Amino acid sequence: MKLFIDTGNIKDIETLAAIGIIDGVTTNPSLLAKEPGDYRQNLKKICDIVKGPVSGEVVATDFAGMIREGHDIATIDPHMVIKVPLTRDGIRACKALAGEGHKVNVTLVFSAAQALLAAKAGATFVSPFVGRLDDVATNGMELIREIVDIYDNYEFKTEVLVASCRHPIHIVEAARMGADVCTCPPSVIDQLFNHPLTNIGLEKFLKDWEKAQAVKA
Ligand code: G3P
Repeated sequence: MKLFIDTGNIKDIETLAAIGIIDGVTTNPSLLAKEPGDYRQNLKKICDIVKGPVSGEVVATDFAGMIREGHDIATIDPHMVIKVPLTRDGIRACKALAGEGHKVNVTLVFSAAQALLAAKAGATFVSPFVGRLDDVATNGMELIREIVDIYDNYEFKTEVLVASCRHPIHIVEAARMGADVCTCPPSVIDQLFNHPLTNIGLEKFLKDWEKAQAVKA
């Protein structure tokens, strides 16, 4: 399963990309709005760092505007993926942009029916928001299971990109279900590294080593 970072923060991306486990980045207007500087330049820097798919989202809500903004996003870097919302105009824009050979990520997906539309429109990625479903007392990971089943039944090429991940359990469940990608904030990726027994074990190994060296000296 691929791991993407869900942020527009270049420092966080640099830090995690240096470890070598990051396959791509997702952004949205809320995330990019938090960062200083020009968003196009920031997206270009992100592409240069990760050298993998980087989603940049349109803010137009009409078909023509989405196509115009989508074309502009695609000129930033060959790694750019055009993110469009799951609306009628968004699905129409996905179909048109994918037909031109662009990579498209259909976002704000909250049902299997919507995910079916994204696949039929030729999306490269579909982004179901599991955390936001959990927030409204609906099991977000059940939606992932449904989408993976449906895509498998028809061998759709669209990759299931689990978004709005809030904790490591979302990531582990996504991997068990066979989702293609998880995108997580840097804080959640940091949590993946942690286990108290790792720290305790390492401390003991190092102490035992030091003790042995002292005896030999
Ligand atoms: O970028 C899309 C999605 O991952 C947003 O997550 O945490 O704002 O629900 P969140």
